[in-house]
Amino acid sequence: MEKAAHGRAGGKVILLGEHAVVYGRPALATGIALGVDATLEVGQGPRLVSDEPDDDRGVRLVAEVARAVGLDPSRTIVRVRSALPAGRGLGSSAALCVAVLRAAAAAAKRALTVDDELALGRRFEAIFHGTPSGVDPAAAALGSCFRFVRGEPPDVTPVVPGRPIGLVVGFGERPRSTGSAVGGLRARWETDRARYEGLFDEIGAIVDDGIRAARAGDLAALGAAFDRNQAVLEALGVSSRDVEQLVACARAAGALGAKLTGGGAGGAAIAVGENPEALAAALRRRGVTTLIVDVARETQAA
Ligand code: MEV
Repeated sequence: MEKAAHGRAGGKVILLGEHAVVYGRPALATGIALGVDATLEVGQGPRLVSDEPDDDRGVRLVAEVARAVGLDPSRTIVRVRSALPAGRGLGSSAALCVAVLRAAAAAAKRALTVDDELALGRRFEAIFHGTPSGVDPAAAALGSCFRFVRGEPPDVTPVVPGRPIGLVVGFGERPRSTGSAVGGLRARWETDRARYEGLFDEIGAIVDDGIRAARAGDLAALGAAFDRNQAVLEALGVSSRDVEQLVACARAAGALGAKLTGGGAGGAAIAVGENPEALAAALRRRGVTTLIVDVARETQAA
């Protein structure tokens, strides 16, 4: 390889179904435009150069990705730039994995299919948290809105909203670790499987109600699904005071529904409303940092 090779992948927002998706229930997620850019060059490796503090996991990622596409890890350096805040439920680890994979595939002149990206993305994401469902790398690979059920291969069905869905993401005060939220829930599930399986079933039904609402363009019904999903996430013990304050704030500002998003016990919440700009402005007046994700537009961009 003479020239540097590039790869890019976007982050994600989980609309419904996080955590239960690890246990085989469906989730509704969308890829977003904000993402990670990776540039691969030849040099003494394996090495990942980023704005984050050096971390063994980055070295492992570069080494495993290089091997997977037939490059020599000891001659592989990857530089990354991320527009995604880490620990905020926006899929920064999965976007990193898929961006590095795409850069390496370009360097090795290997064409990857979507199925390759789904399988490899999930394998590499396990470097960052133990038992990923694969929904985050699927969003990074697809960039669009979809229903997801884990598996080898996963069951992925496109979801085209009946009208644009403006989601407002509000960020909590502190980033959170997806790995510890997933691990904590696993420990609780081990002690009372029947209870937790029942809660996961409730979430599965809410996800499919939410998908019907999204396809019908019924924002009120989608908002109701967000609220129901948040209640079950609280019962699972993966919510937090931070995120519950954000959710209350969004509802007080006129949201049709709000919930946490992603794994990290409250790094971020999402809200749906008829007027996302007004909702985001109301949240910002309360000191919350926000991002608006237009699901229809993100879907078309993919
Ligand atoms: C993390 O974005 C979503 C979780 O459901 C974990 C996973 O699906 O891998 C919490």
